[in-house]
Amino acid sequence: MTTTCSAPGKIYLFGEHAVVYGKRAIASAINLRTTATVSESDQTTISSLLGTTGIDYMVHPYISRCIESLAVPSVSVRIDSEIPVGSGLGSSAAAVIATLGALNAEFRLMMDSATLAEVGHRIERDVQGAASPTDTTVSTMGGTMLITPGVSSSKLRLIECDIVIGDTEEFSSTKELVGNVRIMHENYPGVMDSIFDIIDNLSEIGVPLIEGRDYRSVGELMNIDHGLLDAIGVGSAKLSRLVCAARDAGAYGAKITGAGGGGCIVALTSDAAADAVASAINDAGGRAIITKASEGGVVVREKF
Ligand code: MEV
Repeated sequence: MTTTCSAPGKIYLFGEHAVVYGKRAIASAINLRTTATVSESDQTTISSLLGTTGIDYMVHPYISRCIESLAVPSVSVRIDSEIPVGSGLGSSAAAVIATLGALNAEFRLMMDSATLAEVGHRIERDVQGAASPTDTTVSTMGGTMLITPGVSSSKLRLIECDIVIGDTEEFSSTKELVGNVRIMHENYPGVMDSIFDIIDNLSEIGVPLIEGRDYRSVGELMNIDHGLLDAIGVGSAKLSRLVCAARDAGAYGAKITGAGGGGCIVALTSDAAADAVASAINDAGGRAIITKASEGGVVVREKF
């Protein structure tokens, strides 16, 4: 049997980095997906844009860990993705959740979605060192979600306006950026905790604004969050250029999404302004992607 499973990437409206310190975050699944195709085979192979390997922690660390942690028989796994890698859009979580979902169905492991998200989070932590549950939870459940680490995750009203992503096309290592923030936190614990508290507050007051579809105010809060992300050292000249270009072209708000350093920015816009915001991002040297939030999380298709 062959099983195909897809899972979405995500953007952060608020809370990246602060969520690693237990603060609340709001993130949303988007209409960019990673697909894992799995079938039983004589030997284990993993194929992706990076090439074809066996279990290989250098080339395919996440997928290797998925296969080994579920202790399944030999299997071939193929990964196809619409999500740029190392861009802050949750490409690794989407690949992990799509692979776990496909293995779960192929080998009848009977994991429910909460277990899938939990196993996915553990795999991200094993490979990266530190990871919040945000990416794996949102990729599994879909929708726009409020994440309170270690306490709860709940669905909010789906973001309905256009989302424009601006990719700097500069690789960003989540592990490295989280490590840099940890050093800042060790050096200036009071300052960093105060900043994380403000970011937590942005998530809190963002909830009723999202429920009320007040995207102009959500955008204003995103702009504040961007300034705080810059303050904790995860900004870059190019990220700021794309953020400013998106705002000047009429976005409700724009900020870094994900670990920062490189990777992507996210802008919320009205449908009418989306093309102008995308053009401004392209003109500023980024690669714009216009998308929408996705209510759908992990989806399995089995073929006999
Ligand atoms: C990376 O997409 C987001 C971070 O908050 C790390 C994490 O939540 O695991 C920087």
